[in-house]
Amino acid sequence: MNTTFLKACRGEEVDYTPIWIMRQAGRYLPEYHTVRSKFTFLELCKTPEAAAEVTIQPVDILGVDAAILFSDILVPLEKMGAPLDFFEKRGPVFAEPIRDRAAVDRLVVPDPELELTYVMDTIRILRRELADKVPLIGFSGAPFTLATYLIEGGSSKNFFQTKKMMYTDPQLYAALLEKITDCTIAYLQAQVEAGAQALQIFDSWAGVLAPCDFSEFALPYAQRIIRTLKDAGVTVPIIYFANNGATLLELSKTSGADVLGLDWRINIEDAVARLGQDVSIQGNLDPIALLLPEDKLAARVGRIVAQGKKARGHIFNLGHGIVPEMPPEKAKMVVRLVHELSKKK
Ligand code: CP3
Repeated sequence: MNTTFLKACRGEEVDYTPIWIMRQAGRYLPEYHTVRSKFTFLELCKTPEAAAEVTIQPVDILGVDAAILFSDILVPLEKMGAPLDFFEKRGPVFAEPIRDRAAVDRLVVPDPELELTYVMDTIRILRRELADKVPLIGFSGAPFTLATYLIEGGSSKNFFQTKKMMYTDPQLYAALLEKITDCTIAYLQAQVEAGAQALQIFDSWAGVLAPCDFSEFALPYAQRIIRTLKDAGVTVPIIYFANNGATLLELSKTSGADVLGLDWRINIEDAVARLGQDVSIQGNLDPIALLLPEDKLAARVGRIVAQGKKARGHIFNLGHGIVPEMPPEKAKMVVRLVHELSKKK
């Protein structure tokens, strides 16, 4: 198996910089549409053979150094008791937003092996099918990001309801976040037991918080997840990605993660100067910069790769997910460039 990704996570010596791409299984790939045309998005997540198939597509098509489980950060919330639906153009919708004590009290912490069997089955299939290829990354949302979807009832522009609960009823907010945290710990632990070889925690909306609010209302829950997993003997690398979090780097480091994901709004050398040598980094090309002509893209990739060598370990990635409009050749090109430009001469 290609272990370059796992070595970079741990800060061990590698022959080249490994790369995977957030949202690498998805709508920019015609092969994804072929499978997806037979299912709704949630059905696809819940059909292990098909979910495994689309997980493997980018490994074969792009040549990335890791696979990421095909699922969604929101599926465990459904099993907490919050009915979930996905709509074309509108994205995820929770028809019954969680905004009062009764609603929080009604949420349950599901047993992942019993209630999210389809996720664990997908992981087990993938470990079999990826055996001689690349490691498998499992994932969850971070509690703050998950809570925004529950409280807002879906995606949001200004997070009014979430911040309203934080500021005006912090006890209710904390009760909700503790429950989501308990759910997430069990969910990630079950993924590792099923075979996940690394974990990424997506805090997609962390960047909408002031540093003091991030410290109080988001970070402690990510810290508790990572601390509890490590205390329970989980040894797979854990990646924490606080999107739009360049102002939160020093705080994010206290999450206890082995790897911090970086978006494109910061130069890697500045991030490394602030973070030091006891954490690896992942990132951070602007997802739309894949459209640069090849010579300019090569120059930019070369810069990121060179700066990444100053870190304890560096995994190349985009600064956020690849967009559905992106031609797949651009994703192939960036994988080739990262491998070529980082190879030891
Ligand atoms: O990265 C991968 O290839 C693995 C699969 C994956 C998906 N979602 C598949 C997906 C992962 C890791 C996610 C995580 C996720 N889901 C996040 C965190 C990452 C980030 O982008 O910040 C978030 C915030 C979500 C919630 C979510 N899921 C939204 C807001 C949407 C709608 C917007 C959109 O991009 O369509 C989704 C749907 C979704 N998740 C799709 C895919 C492939 C598109 C569904 C389709 O096929 O129609």
